[in-house]
Amino acid sequence: MSKYILGIETSCDETAAAVVADGREVISNIIYTQIPTHTEYGGVVPEIASREHVKKINQVIEMAIEESGKTWEELEAIAVTYGPGLVGPLLIGVSAAKAIAYAKHIPLVGVNHIEGHICANYLYESGEANSSSGIKPPYMCLVASGGHSHIVRVDDYNKYTIIGRTHDDAAGEAFDKVARAIGLGYPGGPKVDKLAREGDPHAIEFPRASVGDSPYDFSFSGIKSAVLNYLNGCEMKGIEVNRADVAASFQQAVVDVLTDHTIQAAEDEGLKTVALAGGVAANTLLRETMEDKCKERGITFNCPDFKYCTDNGAMIASAGYFEYESGARADLYLNAVPNLKIGER
Ligand code: KG4
Ligand code: ZN
Repeated sequence: MSKYILGIETSCDETAAAVVADGREVISNIIYTQIPTHTEYGGVVPEIASREHVKKINQVIEMAIEESGKTWEELEAIAVTYGPGLVGPLLIGVSAAKAIAYAKHIPLVGVNHIEGHICANYLYESGEANSSSGIKPPYMCLVASGGHSHIVRVDDYNKYTIIGRTHDDAAGEAFDKVARAIGLGYPGGPKVDKLAREGDPHAIEFPRASVGDSPYDFSFSGIKSAVLNYLNGCEMKGIEVNRADVAASFQQAVVDVLTDHTIQAAEDEGLKTVALAGGVAANTLLRETMEDKCKERGITFNCPDFKYCTDNGAMIASAGYFEYESGARADLYLNAVPNLKIGER
C-alpha cells in the first residue's frame, strides 16, 4: 500500500502544498507564487511574504488535497519546511501543519528545505515513471538556489555530508544581483538565462575564482564584482554595453565553476552519479553543461523536472517521506529554524 504524504512549503515567496506517494509519485502539486507581488520592490519583502502566505495557505492546502483525490484519513503524515528560510514565512507553514496534524490526528514531520530540494530528484508525475526517477543514493548533488550553494554527498535518502560551500554569495543571489545591475529585474536567474542565449559567452573574461585550499568551495561575489566593475568601466569610457554578452559571459563563468567543482568532488569520492537541485538547477546552460561533462567522464547525470527545481511542496513531501520512514516525528513544539543547516536534526 502506498504511503501518501502532504508536503507544505512556505520558506520564502512560494506558498505550496502537494501530495506525494512513497516519496516519488506526485499526486497533486499546488504552487501559489508571490513573485508578481515582490517584483515592484526588486526582491522579497519578508513582511509582505508572511502576509501573502497567511492569505493563501489554507486554500493552497485544500486544493492540494482536493486535486489528489485523497481524504485526510488516507494521509500517512504531514511534512512541513521548518528551515532554513525567512522566519515569518516559515512560521505560517509550520503553524498550519501543526494545526492540521493536531485536529486530524496525523503524524507530523519537520523537513529541511535544502534537503527537500535534493529530494526533487526522486519526483515524477503520477503515471509517468521515467528512468531519471530511479535515482538512488549514493550520489553527489550540487544544490544551488537563491540562498544556498553547496556540494552535498548524499549518502542515503536522509543522510547528507557537505563537501563544498560558498564563502560569500549564493549562485542564485549572484544571478539576481547581476540581473539587477543590467536592468533585468527580479527574479534575475530566469531573465539572465533567457538573455544569455542571444549573447557570446566568451565576449568578456570574468574570473573563475577558487577559494583558499578547498577545491570544492565557491566564491561568487568576485564574479559579481567583476561584472559591476566592467559595467562601470564601460560607463566611464562611454562604451555601450552589450547586455546579452554580459549575461552570457557571467553565466558561463558561474556554470564553469559549479560544474567543474561538482564533478571533481564526485570523482574524488568515487561516486558514479551526479545530480542537480535548487532554483539555479533550472538554468539551461547549467543543465546542458553538467550533462555533457558527466557523459565525457562516464558519470550518470540526473536533474529534477523544471517545475520541481524552484520551491514546491512535492519536494518537501518526498523528503518528509524518507524522514518518516526512518522514524522521525515532530511534536507540536516544532518551531521555525531560519538558519537550519543540512544534516541537522
Ligand atoms: O530554490 P529557489 O526557488 O529558492 C530558494 O530556496 O532560494 O531558488 C530561487 C533562485 C533565485 O535566485 C533565482 O534567480 C534562481 O533560483 N533561478 C535561476 C533560474 N531559475 C531560478 N538561476 C539561473 N537560471 C535560471 N533559469
Ligand atoms: Zn528553495
